[in-house]
Amino acid sequence: MGKIAKWLWRLVRPRISIWMIISPLIYFMAGTALFLVFLTLSFKLFVRPYLLMHKLKNLPGARAIFTPLIGVFWHFKRDEKAHDDFHLMSKKLIQENPNMRFIVSPYKDKLQVLLYEPSLVKEFLTKEASFTSKDPRKFKIFHKSAQKGLTFAVGDKWVNQRQFISETFNNEFLTGFIPTVQNTAKEWIGHNFKDDTNTADAVKKIRWFAAKIGAKLFFGEKGFSSRDEFKDFMKAGLETHASWTQIKTSIWRFIFGSKFYKLGLRSIDRQFNRQSKLLDRIYGEKIEEFKKKLEEKEQATEESSSSSPNTLLEMFLAQNKSDNPAKQMDNADIIGQISTFFSAETNATAAFLTSALYFLAKHKDVQHRLRKEVAEKYGKNKSVDFETLNDMEYLDSFLKETLRLQPPTSLLYQRKVKESMSLVDIKLKKGDRVNVDVLGMGYNPNLFSDPTEFQPDRWIVKKDPGVNEQFAHIPFSEGSHQCPGKQFALTQSKVLICELLQKFNVGFEKSPNVRLGFDFVYHIQSPLKMTFAKV
Ligand code: HEM
Repeated sequence: MGKIAKWLWRLVRPRISIWMIISPLIYFMAGTALFLVFLTLSFKLFVRPYLLMHKLKNLPGARAIFTPLIGVFWHFKRDEKAHDDFHLMSKKLIQENPNMRFIVSPYKDKLQVLLYEPSLVKEFLTKEASFTSKDPRKFKIFHKSAQKGLTFAVGDKWVNQRQFISETFNNEFLTGFIPTVQNTAKEWIGHNFKDDTNTADAVKKIRWFAAKIGAKLFFGEKGFSSRDEFKDFMKAGLETHASWTQIKTSIWRFIFGSKFYKLGLRSIDRQFNRQSKLLDRIYGEKIEEFKKKLEEKEQATEESSSSSPNTLLEMFLAQNKSDNPAKQMDNADIIGQISTFFSAETNATAAFLTSALYFLAKHKDVQHRLRKEVAEKYGKNKSVDFETLNDMEYLDSFLKETLRLQPPTSLLYQRKVKESMSLVDIKLKKGDRVNVDVLGMGYNPNLFSDPTEFQPDRWIVKKDPGVNEQFAHIPFSEGSHQCPGKQFALTQSKVLICELLQKFNVGFEKSPNVRLGFDFVYHIQSPLKMTFAKV
């Protein structure tokens, strides 16, 4: 026994002693490596952005906010959760510091700059097409076809699409579309407000109105063969967006990345995938159906008098016949445009109209004065046209004031700097991010007197500097990426408000607790219980 033990000890002893020497070395090396990684990351993500931020901090009108990694949007999100207003911080900061020109904060290992001064904004919007690109990371989970639409198209593709959309989606097309808008508004009112006094969640009702207009824009009044087909489309269109919002902000996305939802592990992901598939199927079928219709129309036209396309989808399909291949759009491109427009309608236009109803209910004097103008100008005509709508000065001022206080695109899409650039005195490097606080400018007391007051008259009296400064009020942006849907959004909003005010007094059921959130656009969140009582 003793011999065996000695033999075993001789066998094991050398190994133990080697291990005893090596192991501390390994621990030391691993520890040092970890420490170096920690130091590098700390430097990259905390120290360097702080130093970079420090350089801009001393410029006139600068405000530095050090929230490492995620930047200033963390504060916005926090205010949305804690105070029911995503923009609380920008409203407060600009009122307390009217000379604030920009906020600088770190964003990962780079800088993020948020602009508040009209001349800086002008400089940015003049340069952004050449020096920056949109940062579509957040939208990777958006219904995939939307990523092909104008909003995220780049290079020549964007140039051609933009040119085509500007040529087609113009006043002439809109003039032809006004009767559809008016019919839809009348239908919507008739369907929703049957009693003398009606109560409804304005957010949901308005979203349906906007979705209907969006659907008719592409597919026409009779674009769907049955009510069920139309309902399927509307439901899928609206619900994909609702699920997208949830997926986008989920913690799983931050941990596992933008494509995690594709695995369908959670019920919300499965629902989103199902709805996206359904939408793709409906879009695909509609395109084929419209292609056939267009061919039949063309054959009939050759035999009889000429006939021009009258829905946007027909126009897009007709564009495919262009001799220039760069201008042609395949099915995926067309679906991209439809989803982009549909999404702009059901988000931006819907948010705008909901805010307009909210301000009408809140300011009864404004509502009263507007109803008078509607009776004088709009009520006289059986069918409405651009001239009538453009001749309504108070309506125009009311909408501008709504857009000043609650612009749906309260922030533009964040831009990523492609190569070093300067915005007046602000020097930016590749990878830095720039954005404009469109809403923030509207609350600057140097630009708008009593900025929190709802005063449509300021747009008529024109005393406030902000009213006369093009880049102080840019709810539809300016420059090459400015909104091509501006006229469309304004026209339908004017028509709906006029139709509504002719028949109903708009009010609140009880004083509302308004929650202002931001997903895709800045908007009043559901529910907003409102009353519509016959005048
Ligand atoms: C009140 C409603 C709307 C508002 C406030 C609004 C606002 C804006 C703003 C500010 C931009 C520029 C974003 C940026 O450059 O970062 C934009 C772009 C765009 N809007 Fe609108 N929009 C509205 C309605 C619409 C409608 C109804 C449509 C289409 C039917 C539309 C289609 C687009 C498209 C396609 C772009 C991208 C243009 C490009 O990048 O070239 N918008 N919108």
